[in-house]
Amino acid sequence: MGRAIPRSRLGVFRRSWIAAEIALVGLLIGSTGVLGAVRDRWDTLSEPPAARGARIYQMQCFGCHGGESGGAITDRPPKHNARGHTWHHADCELAAMIGRGIAPDMPAYGGRLDAEEIRAVITHIRTMWTAEQRTQQEDLTRARC
Ligand code: HEC
Repeated sequence: MGRAIPRSRLGVFRRSWIAAEIALVGLLIGSTGVLGAVRDRWDTLSEPPAARGARIYQMQCFGCHGGESGGAITDRPPKHNARGHTWHHADCELAAMIGRGIAPDMPAYGGRLDAEEIRAVITHIRTMWTAEQRTQQEDLTRARC
């Protein structure tokens, strides 16, 4: 006659299995979270700065500042393209305005974008200017930054 396992010990056995299963599920969820974060970081690291700048601009700035065409110098919010006046500012001035914002209507992006992302956005904005505007703005940047 086999010896029956006492009921109380079975309960402990079952409970520890449940605990192990919960731990395993937690581990799986946790590791996909970690892996997802690593993958996102890798994507942003391997993304060329111009593409990264364009993506950020599209998501965070386009709605107010518009795209490559249209608009007038008097628009508010100002257009960043060749019809606007953004190219009258040196790189360090643009970075400061983007980072700190301009009260009350231009949000501050310092907490959301790091210095590299702000540089990438400026690189994208530059693609909307004429060659002449780009050259003049480079001179300004050399003189003021
Ligand atoms: C909610 C609307 C809004 C969003 C979103 C926004 N801006 Fe602005 N921005 C403004 C307004 C309004 C001004 C004009 C502020 C002033 O002159 O008082 C401005 C001004 C600026 C200026 C200075 C003026 C110029 O043309 O040189 C820069 C640079 C700028 N924004 C960059 C950005 C960038 C880059 C983003 C995205 C990361 C962004 N803004 C997102 C509303 C916005």
